[in-house]
Parts: sequence; structure tokens; C-alpha cells
Amino acid sequence: MKCRICKEEAVVALQSHNTAFCAQCFLNFFTHQVSRGIAMFDLFQAHERILVALSGGKDSLALCLVLKELDYKIAGLHLDLGIPSSSPKARACVEGFCAKHSIPLHIVDFVAEGVGIKEVKAKLRRPICSACGTLKRYYFNKTALDLGFDALATGHNLDDEVSRLFSNTLRWDESYLSKQGPYLPASPGFVRKVKPLWRVSEFVTANYAFLKDIDIHTAPCPYSQGASFPVLKNLMHNLELAMPGRKLDFYQGFLKRGRPYFAANTQPENTLKPCQKCGYPTAAEDLCSVCRIKELLAS
Ligand code: AMP
Ligand code: FES
Ligand code: ZN
Repeated sequence: MKCRICKEEAVVALQSHNTAFCAQCFLNFFTHQVSRGIAMFDLFQAHERILVALSGGKDSLALCLVLKELDYKIAGLHLDLGIPSSSPKARACVEGFCAKHSIPLHIVDFVAEGVGIKEVKAKLRRPICSACGTLKRYYFNKTALDLGFDALATGHNLDDEVSRLFSNTLRWDESYLSKQGPYLPASPGFVRKVKPLWRVSEFVTANYAFLKDIDIHTAPCPYSQGASFPVLKNLMHNLELAMPGRKLDFYQGFLKRGRPYFAANTQPENTLKPCQKCGYPTAAEDLCSVCRIKELLAS
């Protein structure tokens, strides 16, 4: 198979675009897709400071590298979750990547913060993944605000977004459907959140990471067995095989027509008040969910 652009031997075939690329033309294609995703929703500007959340996985590291090559003002943020069998490897991977590419890196150590995931899991009666997600969002937001960044970027790709959309739709969760997307504007107590990889699939991102020789942390979270997203991702994968390009159409159609509809027809949420302990906006009367987790651990 030949590259569609330069007619050299192709190394990546993309069914969804009915095309194939050589290595260099594929890297240009990836960069163009990310730039287009940033421009379409005006995610951020060249002069703004972006904190990129780096888990050590292919998506966040690929995102960080492409933003650096596009000359954005970036720094990395890694949350060391304190899971003995995986966190040290993930952290080493992120530290190695940032050192190699001269990218400033901020690390939040969950054990030092009193919220090590192993300890939280031992105390909690509900599934750890949702508490872990709450803790991650809290520290993404807090660190970006404390350090004065304009936006927090995560490595969510098209497959993540489409499976989340499908899950929200299965439950007709109007509140989530009114907000889901690659851009969540800043509001009091919250930094802007952006997902610049929203136009590229997991397969495309994995190829970029491979061709760029990015050393990635691949082991799945040891606590995440039984999560429902892989099931939805498989469904979407099969849909894409049968109807190439449908995933991106579905998601773009939602952003253009679905989300505005739900945003206009959904009651605003309860007003938030500052947490009495840490000041983080919360719908609860006294403590935010993170301060409650900390209290539980201290008890
Ligand atoms: P996940 O929910 O694990 O698929 O991760 C989605 C995105 O959240 C990743 O692409 C990262 O940008 C970010 N992320 C997840 N875990 C971490 C972490 N431990 N430290 C920093 N960022 C993370
Ligand atoms: Fe948080 Fe697995 S990454 S529970
Ligand atoms: Zn709090």
C-alpha cells in the first residue's frame, strides 16, 4: 500500500479515513488533526499556559509531545496515586519522558497528601474507581489553579469520548449530556478543562506514540477490573469496523446538535458553596468529597 500524500511505502492504514500514510505523512496528519481539534473549539491560545495531566499512558504522553512540537507553553502534572504495583512505574515513565523532552513536571504524591489509593481502597465501602476519579479531578483542578495555569489538558481520545457519550446516552443523563465535550470553560473555583485529542482514535494515538518512540506505561490499573467502559469501547470498535468514520460523525453531531439541546433544556445544578475545610466548591453543606475521604482515612 502506498502513502496517499507522497506515494512512498505506507506504514499506517486508517480504515476510518479510507487511506494510508508513510511515517512522516502520518505524523503530519496526527499533528493536523490535533491542531484542528484545538481550533474548532478554541480550546486555548498560543500565549496561554497549559498544564498537561500525564498518567504515563500513550495518550497523555503523545498529547504532551505534540503540544510541545506545536510550541504551546506546557508543563506536565503527574499524580502519583500510591498503588504499589503500578504507581512507581508510571511515575518513572513520566519523569523519564519529561527529562528527555525538557518539559517542566509537577508531581502530586497522593500518599503525602494523605489520600494514597491503596489506603483509600482499604477503608472505602464503595468501588475505588469513582473515589479515585474524584481525587484525580480535585488535584488536577487545585494544582492548575494554585500554579496559575490557564487550562488543564487531559489525554482523552475519540474512543474515550464516544464511549462516555454512549454511556451517558444509555442512561439519558441530561446533566452530563449538557456538559460533555472537549471544552469545559472556567467557572468560579474551577480551571478550564480541555481534551485536545478528541478527534483522534486510540489506534491513531498509539501509532503516533510508537513512531515517536515514546516509552509508555502500559500496565492497566490493578484495581480497575470490571469497569464498564471497555465493553462500550468494544461496541464502538465493532461499529467503526462496520461503518468506518461513524464514530467521529456521531461525536461531532452530538457536539453540534445534541449538547446545545441538552444545555438549553437542563435545569442548572444546585449552587456550589466553598468546602468548610479546603475551600473547594461543593454541593454538600459542610465538607467536599475529598475532605470527607481524608476524614475517613484519619478515623
Ligand atoms: P484515564 O481516566 O485513566 O483513561 O485517564 C484519562 C486522562 O487523565 C489521561 O489521558 C491523563 O491525561 C489523565 N490522567 C489519568 N491518570 C493520571 C495520573 N495519575 N496523573 C496525571 N494524569 C492522569
Ligand atoms: Fe484509580 Fe485505578 S487508576 S482506581
Ligand atoms: Zn474540602
